[in-house]
Amino acid sequence: MKTRLLSPNEIDIAAGIIKNGGLVGIPTETVYGLGANGLNPMAVRSIFQAKGRPQDNPLILHIPDPSWLEIYCQDIPEEAWRLAKRFWPGPLTMILKCKRRTQSELEELKNGPVCSQTHLGPHIIPDVVTAGLDTVGMRCPAHSMCRAIIEAAGVPVAAPSGNTSGKPSPTTAQHMLDDMEGKIDAILDGGDCQVGVESTIVDLTCRPPRLLRPGGVPLEQLRDVLEEIELDPAVTRSLEEGERPRAPGMKYRHYAPKAPVTVVQGEPARSAQYILDHVTDSYWEGVICFNEFAHWFEDHPVECLGGSLDGFEHARRLFRALRAMDDSGVKHIWAQCPGTEGMGLAVVNRLSKAAGFHIVDA
Ligand code: TXA
Ligand code: MG
Repeated sequence: MKTRLLSPNEIDIAAGIIKNGGLVGIPTETVYGLGANGLNPMAVRSIFQAKGRPQDNPLILHIPDPSWLEIYCQDIPEEAWRLAKRFWPGPLTMILKCKRRTQSELEELKNGPVCSQTHLGPHIIPDVVTAGLDTVGMRCPAHSMCRAIIEAAGVPVAAPSGNTSGKPSPTTAQHMLDDMEGKIDAILDGGDCQVGVESTIVDLTCRPPRLLRPGGVPLEQLRDVLEEIELDPAVTRSLEEGERPRAPGMKYRHYAPKAPVTVVQGEPARSAQYILDHVTDSYWEGVICFNEFAHWFEDHPVECLGGSLDGFEHARRLFRALRAMDDSGVKHIWAQCPGTEGMGLAVVNRLSKAAGFHIVDA
């Protein structure tokens, strides 16, 4: 299959492919997603194939408007509406209960044509989207082209990040093409992603609500809206044998470049000094650092995360930096690590996972 690179004025083509059961790379404000019609089980199955994604890792649905929640979800708590009002459209995903089909709907489907029977299941959303869970992740993205594609397709769009499973998420159309060329119908080039890390995921099916994945909406801002929010253990540490995270995807090695990563925590000047003291003079050791320290590592492949205090820039550049390290062919990566305030929580989470939680204190 030849993967077409679509330009921003080809929204209708992208939407048409989705309507017809194909796969399209879609730009979002967080990262590029691999989109398909979320109501078409065959199309959704092909997402898993293209990514090499484990079948037990559910997908999230992208909708153009909060009013769509009521079509696909039930028992929606009042907090969900408050969060939607404040953060949608934007980089927030909410886990909610799937809407169940009524008995008469099920009967009707059973007697209907074979094609509608393939949708047969207890929930309106096909089981292949949710990996058989009775909950679903719902997201209303802010990227204008993404919204236009979903609106033109007229269906909820199932879309994981557009990377090969386990790799850093793509933040440019080219990065997505690097992973998906020949495996999907098209990618719509909507420019560089402005947030750079994936959406924040909050589970609203439990009390208190629980942060499953830090992302584009900082925890501090969620706390403005929610009286209480719990952090899932998978956010800040690696899971122990037999421990199961609430977001199935959090158990997999992730965001990982080819070379092993050592994350160095601590105040920026100290972590930079630690790396300087430990990096060998080999050209095959790469460094990801804050701008202020880039000149310390001139003899090495270096990727900058932005100024040490600019959390939004760190998020925007992180995956690009990890991919650039891959391209340079380094055998080991050292990375300076920001604090956990604001966007830092998401950046530290992704870096820690890229490093398999190999973290040292400067
Ligand atoms: O920013 C984003 O969220 C991007 C863009 C494309 O929208 N999408 C994205 O999707 O990051 P993905 O599939 O790469 O990550 C979604 C995460 C996975 O870890 C998955 O396990 C979790 O959400 N998830 C999906 N449905 C869930 C559910 N019902 N309960 C708990 N976790 C769920
Ligand atoms: Mg992903």
